[in-house]
Amino acid sequence: MSASSRYRRFHIALRELPPSLLRAMTEVDQQRHVAFVAQTPDGHIIADARYVHLDEAGHDAEFALAVADSHQRHGVGRAMLQRLMQHAREHGVRRLVGDVLWDNAPMLAMVRALGGKLVASADNVSVLQARFETRSA
Ligand SMILES: CC(C)(COP(=O)(O)OP(=O)(O)OC[C@H]1O[C@@H](n2cnc3c(N)ncnc32)[C@H](O)[C@@H]1OP(=O)(O)O)[C@@H](O)C(=O)NCCC(=O)NCCS
Repeated sequence: MSASSRYRRFHIALRELPPSLLRAMTEVDQQRHVAFVAQTPDGHIIADARYVHLDEAGHDAEFALAVADSHQRHGVGRAMLQRLMQHAREHGVRRLVGDVLWDNAPMLAMVRALGGKLVASADNVSVLQARFETRSA
């Protein structure tokens, strides 16, 4: 991922994942923390989409996704987010939310294109919160 894509995904400048974040991203139980990757036929991971429950009941979850720069604009991000929403819906998650940097035009466009809402964040002017009601998605 380019520096710009990494920044848009993690909201901080990262060269590599710090150990704590690496652990958090790889300790996936596929229940409370659900992750999907997309890979090429030769096994290269080119996209990652995930959600993490925000409440005990699992009705609300926070999502994020990223597509490798070389594979952007080919429908991968849309397919990943739709798959994530389908999984969430089938597993009782009613709402997916995610913070998007205010100038992340590709992601803002995708949220709108997939029927999500964008809501100003009360405590951070640099992000908009994307919201998907999974039952209507
Ligand atoms: C945002 C991101 C996931 C989009 O993935 P993608 O595979 O390139 O997107 P898709 O090709 O599936 O496009 C789906 C829709 O998103 C919008 N979109 C995607 N890229 C866009 C761009 N560069 N400019 C404008 N709209 C764009 C369009 O509405 C597009 O639909 P269309 O192709 O019918 O016009 C990808 O750019 C990315 O990984 N960015 C870096 C990390 C990031 O921003 N993650 C989001 C934080 S939660």
